[in-house]
Amino acid sequence: MEAVAVCRRATEDDIEILADLIAGYAEKGIMLPRSRETLKRQIDTFVVAEVGDDVVGCGSLTRLGADLVEIRSLGISEGYKGMGIGSKLVDQLIIEAKEQHIPKIMALTYEVHFFEKNGFTVVNKEIFPEKVWTDCVNCPKQHACDEIAVLKMLN
Ligand SMILES: CC(C)(COP(=O)(O)OP(=O)(O)OC[C@H]1O[C@@H](n2cnc3c(N)ncnc32)[C@H](O)[C@@H]1OP(=O)(O)O)[C@@H](O)C(=O)NCCC(=O)NCCS
Repeated sequence: MEAVAVCRRATEDDIEILADLIAGYAEKGIMLPRSRETLKRQIDTFVVAEVGDDVVGCGSLTRLGADLVEIRSLGISEGYKGMGIGSKLVDQLIIEAKEQHIPKIMALTYEVHFFEKNGFTVVNKEIFPEKVWTDCVNCPKQHACDEIAVLKMLN
């Protein structure tokens, strides 16, 4: 089933719903937590998906270097998964990356099939040294990271 979702840039009005959505996945260990303060500071990096008036998904882009961005905090509300909304958010994040003239977009994920469906390829995560110096240092799984790295070239 496809839901009619509209993707747009997030605003400060979305912070509460973003915090709840991300906290739900952070509790399950599949996303890093984001405080409201961090969300406020980084709100320009977020996109959200709306169905009607409801925000049902989000995703963000983090710059990891001159030519690389990472998709982070990509999540869809329960009840709205499998409707193409996550793919639509990835498309929107790719548009944002292209607008910034960044040629490579990556993610660390357990959802390999989803990213492959969206044109990403599994790569060795050792090729991303910049990543180590950003959020990984705060991740409880730092020394036992079992996420898979996926990459898509944008040009
Ligand atoms: C992974 C996720 C973002 C995909 O968004 P989505 O809107 O459900 O995905 P789409 O409808 O665009 O694509 C469907 C694909 O998503 C994947 N998927 C993951 N969980 C799913 C679920 N509960 N229901 C349906 N599809 C799911 C499957 O690979 C599916 O492909 P298939 O139909 O060939 O089996 C979403 O399921 C989610 O929020 N998962 C939990 C958070 C997470 O793991 N985020 C990734 C962090 S990098």
